[in-house]
Amino acid sequence: MLIDTHCHILPNIDDGAGSLEESIAMAKGAVLNDIGVIVATPHYGKGKYVNDAKSIELKVSQMNAALESVKVNLTVITGQEIHVRKSIVEELYTGKLTTINQSRFMILELPSYGIPTNFHDLLYELSILQIVPVIAHPERNFGFLKNKSSIRSFFDQGVLFQVTASSLLGAHGRKYRISQLNCVKVG
Ligand SMILES: [Fe+2]
Repeated sequence: MLIDTHCHILPNIDDGAGSLEESIAMAKGAVLNDIGVIVATPHYGKGKYVNDAKSIELKVSQMNAALESVKVNLTVITGQEIHVRKSIVEELYTGKLTTINQSRFMILELPSYGIPTNFHDLLYELSILQIVPVIAHPERNFGFLKNKSSIRSFFDQGVLFQVTASSLLGAHGRKYRISQLNCVKVG
């Protein structure tokens, strides 16, 4: 059984599923691919998307109820794709943010242009709180593409990375195909 750790499966709240029917179709597709658990990762702080922790919890429980009612054997758990910004620690304290199933693992999305100058400060603050940052789709970040060895140094600082499965197949274009990053071995 596989776990999908990044999926915009919740309906009508970001650029993911556009309806409950679409969410259920995604869930059925996942089950066919031997996925038993999906981490719902709605955008937070990116453009107009503000999906706080409480609203995600509610939507996840509604989604699980919907899946049960149509007998799809898949469990959705809470997560969030948090756009990196200065206020992350404050928003964590005020309960707006959440992690993967309320664990230590927090999914962060960097701006595609690169790595913000204050990102190291944020990593330090998160490390004090014993939160492990998981950077979403590094293969689409110009900072990593320009400086591939920086992935190694972030990994050495305890940062984890999450690659989009379709990037392995080049679905986002040749430039972002994961082989672009293959020269860096982590772990
Ligand atoms: Fe995402």
